[in-house]
Amino acid sequence: MTQSLTLRVQNLSIAIAGKAVVHDVSFEVAAGERVGIIGGSGSGKTLTALAIAGLLPDGATATGSIQVGHPDGTTTELLALSDRDFAKLRGDQIGMVFQEPKTALSPFQTLGNQMTDALALHYRLSKSERTAAAVRLAEQVSLKDPARIVNAYPHEVSGGQRQRAAIAAAISASPGLLLADEPTTALDVSVQRGILDLFNTIVDRGDCSLLCISHDIAAVQLVSDRILVFDDGRLVESGSAIDILERPAHEVTRALIAAAGGAHT
Ligand SMILES: Nc1ncnc2c1ncn2[C@@H]1O[C@H](COP(=O)(O)OP(=O)(O)OP(=O)(O)O)[C@@H](O)[C@H]1O
Ligand SMILES: [Mg+2]
Repeated sequence: MTQSLTLRVQNLSIAIAGKAVVHDVSFEVAAGERVGIIGGSGSGKTLTALAIAGLLPDGATATGSIQVGHPDGTTTELLALSDRDFAKLRGDQIGMVFQEPKTALSPFQTLGNQMTDALALHYRLSKSERTAAAVRLAEQVSLKDPARIVNAYPHEVSGGQRQRAAIAAAISASPGLLLADEPTTALDVSVQRGILDLFNTIVDRGDCSLLCISHDIAAVQLVSDRILVFDDGRLVESGSAIDILERPAHEVTRALIAAAGGAHT
């Protein structure tokens, strides 16, 4: 049975210290759909993701509506959730991978423990079961030498390995919606493709919707059925990935395609 969530963002506006930075953004992600957001630096991609995750910085306020739809037909208005309920939803149903893995990982715990935090909340796992689960997750995100990695601390591995461990943590509890903000930006080009393929594998299993953000349209196109284009806090264009890449209507979209060295369809 699918556990994919739907997402409906309506008229979302975000202000920081009274200054409007995201303006009246509306879009939807269907169950099991892969939606990409592209846009230049400062266009509001990360703040939109943070609003969906309930993690806006202090002083930021969001108005409008962000609803997730559950497989049983019920919906939850995220902007009305208490911090506590939001934290529960994040742990249970929304997995997140953000740009900077250092902020997502504690320096004081092994990567294996952090990759299996969410699992350990849900299931009673013996130490060896937890290690086995961590090794399995490490393999899923193409971490070499999983047996060493799961016992390592974040400072003992490369930045790329840290990001892959953060991705493993995000998918460990099989979330119904995965939010990824620049998930491959910190990774070597040679391993980016494997990570993006992994996101596709997770969605293809039928239990997850994906919202993937990047300034790099070449990365986003690999994991998107539909693409949304942000510019200066506004959603300026959206369409199927193929339409956006082959018939970009907005100059910003054309510039992003040119910056990626042309799109590869
Ligand atoms: N904590 C903050 N305090 C004040 N302004 C912020 C804060 N975070 C973001 N902003 C501003 O909000 C706007 C949108 O920022 P956001 O981080 O969402 O952009 P982005 O599209 O993710 O950019 P990038 O591609 O560089 O990650 C920018 O003008 C940014 O300066
Ligand atoms: Mg950002």
